Amino acid sequence: MHSFAYKNGSLHCENVNLADIASATGTPVFVYSKKTIADDLAEFRAAFAPLDAHVAFAVKACSSKAILNLMAQQGAGFDIVSGGELWRVINAGGDPTLCTYAGVAKTEPEIRYALEQNIYCFNCESENELREINRIAGEMGVKAPVSVRVNPHVDAHTHKYITTGTNENKFGVDITRIEEVYATIAAEMPHLHIKGLQMHIGSQLTEVQPFVDAAVKVLPIVKKFMKLYGIEFWSIGGGIGIVYDGCLESGKPEWWAAHPELITIRSYAEALIPILKPLGIKILLEPGRRLVGNAAAMLTTCIYEKKGEAKTFKMIDAGMNDIIRPALYEGYHEIWPVQEHCGDEIVADIVGPICESGDFQAQNRRIADVQPGEVLAEMSAGAYGFSMSSTYNSRPLAAEVLVDGDKWSIIRRRQTLEQMVQDECLPE
Ligand code: LLP
Repeated sequence: MHSFAYKNGSLHCENVNLADIASATGTPVFVYSKKTIADDLAEFRAAFAPLDAHVAFAVKACSSKAILNLMAQQGAGFDIVSGGELWRVINAGGDPTLCTYAGVAKTEPEIRYALEQNIYCFNCESENELREINRIAGEMGVKAPVSVRVNPHVDAHTHKYITTGTNENKFGVDITRIEEVYATIAAEMPHLHIKGLQMHIGSQLTEVQPFVDAAVKVLPIVKKFMKLYGIEFWSIGGGIGIVYDGCLESGKPEWWAAHPELITIRSYAEALIPILKPLGIKILLEPGRRLVGNAAAMLTTCIYEKKGEAKTFKMIDAGMNDIIRPALYEGYHEIWPVQEHCGDEIVADIVGPICESGDFQAQNRRIADVQPGEVLAEMSAGAYGFSMSSTYNSRPLAAEVLVDGDKWSIIRRRQTLEQMVQDECLPE
């Protein structure tokens, strides 16, 4: 349950009026609710309490220092995909021994760094990667903890760019070959310690069934590997979807009661626990989006309106460089005026300042007829929002704010123009 709601005609995050933040920091700015993140992490833990389950937050969803620090303070582990993410976790006060390291193209310096930091496990995606880790561990005189990501060939029913668990995807080792690969590790790679098995079938799944199908399919393999190799964990990945359409209403329990078909942390746990519990194995969960997605909104200001022949455009001061999800995945984010409107709706495209036709945040959207100068909140912006932002069109990175009750703090200052170009130089 998130913490954005209108109070006295103005949109608030927890007890802070978003208008106050926008006027103090300027826009665009990402505003996160500490309560939402802490509550959702606690909900994961409570829902999976019948198992020996551990949450490894998928850092890619939101890698800002204060958010990682918040996760670390609450005792979460981390699912990382680069040496940079490992560095960020450590820099934010996270424990490297609670990190699992995924990704299809880990480089030698990254592997060495992760071994030096004594990470919990490498989640490997190919035999050649396993051979490389084996070689490097041998040189360093250590045993590298590994698991392999099994690709169970289950359709996640999500956008084609974020489905990962079919044999058309670059991820993991096909389920038909996984036993052979583990046998090869055991026979030929003395510097590896087989520690677990991993899977992840995709992101933004709104139904429980594909998770169940994947778990049922992989279960016999886990049982076999527990016997053969004594594996100690099974990571069932991340992927639980959030509400993008109906976002504000979904802050209320009644809304969820009216939408029983949508996945919740509880329905996910209730479906999986009966399958997993009899194994008695440690379960790792790698949620990213579900922990931070609904916990933030991006505030942006309407700059101009343009009425064209076919469409009305509302131009805003945030672009696809700030949130790329609509352009890249046809992602849908609700957009609400910070000052509540009454009944003056129009249909418009909400577009940014970037010189690309793909630079929109919403198309043909029924929205309040906001006027230039008004602040808008783009909802569900916490996951893959700031973390995928760039300086395209020489637009400095946005600011970030963390709300805690009736207080708020800047957790990232807006990038300055000098900072944006500080590493550039002329040739000698
Ligand atoms: N574990 C692995 C191995 C992953 O590849 C991912 C996400 C996660 C966990 C976390 O998945 P989540 O719980 O956040 O769904 N940029 C896209 C999403 C890319 C997801 C990549 N992998 C978007 O904005 O929709």
